[in-house]
Amino acid sequence: MKIFAYGIRNDEIPYVEAWERTNPEIEVGYTQELLDPETAKLAAGADAAVVYQQLDYTRETLSALAAVGVTNLSLRNVGTDNIDFDAAREFNFNVSNVPVYSPNAIAEHAAIQVAALLSQAKVMENKIQSHDLRWEPTIRREVRDQVVGVVGTGHIGRVFMNIMKGFGAKVIAYDVFRNPELEAAGVYVDTLEELLEQSDIISLHVPHIPGTNDHMIDADAIAHMKDDAVLVNVSRGALVDTDAVIAALDSGKLYGFVIDTYENEVGVFNADWRDTEFPDARLLNLINRENVYVTPHTAFYTTHAVREMVHQSFDAAVAFANGGEKEGNVVKY
Ligand code: COI
Repeated sequence: MKIFAYGIRNDEIPYVEAWERTNPEIEVGYTQELLDPETAKLAAGADAAVVYQQLDYTRETLSALAAVGVTNLSLRNVGTDNIDFDAAREFNFNVSNVPVYSPNAIAEHAAIQVAALLSQAKVMENKIQSHDLRWEPTIRREVRDQVVGVVGTGHIGRVFMNIMKGFGAKVIAYDVFRNPELEAAGVYVDTLEELLEQSDIISLHVPHIPGTNDHMIDADAIAHMKDDAVLVNVSRGALVDTDAVIAALDSGKLYGFVIDTYENEVGVFNADWRDTEFPDARLLNLINRENVYVTPHTAFYTTHAVREMVHQSFDAAVAFANGGEKEGNVVKY
């Protein structure tokens, strides 16, 4: 059996090699190149392709992969919003992902950024660097005094809720799919509007479903928020109308913004712009603010998560190649 993996980064290689050592009977090939209509041929002869990329898996790409006989596609990440599922259906693809590689990685990152924002860590650091050691006006908001509204109570949302509870915050949640334990604990509010109206910190932990929740946080949603609310988006850029957030930061309606996923991030994040003109004025506007904490879609990026992403995706690829499915990793579409 042969598995071929695309877009393998240097930090993933040790985990690929470790997987190969425990699966010596399987031939593994990989490339740093991403999967596209051109590179699809590299997988010829493989029983499954393992992939991760932010570029779309278009009809053309899927058709090129199917043309070399590969219709088992195993994603190393969770998000599937960049797959053309109509084409996947047409070419009979089996698709898997890694829905639970490390909820803690993402939840922890969100919590760390929230704590930093409430502590005005950027402001304080800039003051210290300029030798301004006065206390005022850099006063902190304690997490325990906040109502934290969590949108989406899947694995990541639930870990985030627990971390916030650990700080002593009151936590409320909104989700169309309710978790029975949280339901019994009376955590849910009935509508997104209620959550927005009651929360000091609003954190998004839902997938992007194109055509359904694009810009779920827009000017209207922000108008429902309390003054001085904090918005956290470590889920998907498309969920938030960035222009509306910038307007709310300008007007002082929002206290701050934590952003790890940005609606125009493809081709901008995970690239080095130090010696070239920065490509996105709107993102630069956010980066330059002391009350905005930008990271380039790295909330997931821990050793634990990367190991799980590699190992689970390779295992799921093997399961497909054997004519079966790895439980918990199959994308039903
Ligand atoms: C996902 O797993 O879908 C993510 O958003 C993380 C990705 C950048 C690897």
